[in-house]
Amino acid sequence: MNNHPIGIFDSGVGGTSIWKEINALLPHEHTVYLADSKNAPYGEKSKDEIIELCIKNTEFLLQEGCKLIVVACNTATTNAIDYLRAHYKVPFIGIEPAIKPAALQSESKKVGVLATKGTLSSLLFHSTSENHANGIRIIEQVGTGLVPLIERGKVDSPETKALLEKYLNPMVASGIDYLVLGCTHYPYLLPVLRELLPNHVKIIDSGEAVARQTKAVLVKNDLLTSSNDNGTYRFITNAKAEILEYFLQDFRGTTELTYQDF
Ligand code: SIN
Repeated sequence: MNNHPIGIFDSGVGGTSIWKEINALLPHEHTVYLADSKNAPYGEKSKDEIIELCIKNTEFLLQEGCKLIVVACNTATTNAIDYLRAHYKVPFIGIEPAIKPAALQSESKKVGVLATKGTLSSLLFHSTSENHANGIRIIEQVGTGLVPLIERGKVDSPETKALLEKYLNPMVASGIDYLVLGCTHYPYLLPVLRELLPNHVKIIDSGEAVARQTKAVLVKNDLLTSSNDNGTYRFITNAKAEILEYFLQDFRGTTELTYQDF
């Protein structure tokens, strides 16, 4: 089992931001990444629809023999991870917005969270934010429209910048000093976010913490690969492979991309 791949899925290309962190920490692990771009965005779907899509993705990755599954999507995690953990034996790693470190470090005691409607309306998000928001005001903002733009590779288009300005300005005006990125697609907006936000506002995402957690769970379950060679890194998409290729351009030659209608 140790040399079986880690499975990673997302509603599209956003989870590649998580794959990059996992690959940097665990380069010897084989990985299979499933990009369900055909059904993006998940953030506008009902909880039942999200669970159904997560079951489909999980079954696919189990067929591939995956030893652990990373749900590299905040919306999928907050709506479906309890269901997945209750119905499958394989360990699941989820992505939750990094509210805890932001709340601990915030001096203004005001933290902004940019995420999808599906994440912000979930019970899991509310319990996490209540647990960590002792004396901290959490200012939530739904990032409607951002995921479809990123799925089209429009990470710094005028349309993307205009939407971000609309979402960020009220949070900045309320005095936030931390912005939590609550969607795995959003790290691809970092250059534009940095351009639009004042310098004192720090940006946090969950990528590195998820990679560390993935390693910890592999170690705990005695599932770390025994190989010292680099793993194979497979990416499967049910939409245009060019978009995935664009987000993986720094890994050309080491990644294998295929289209499959799943
Ligand atoms: C989406 O598909 O709407 C976004 C995925 C996420 O929440 O990370």
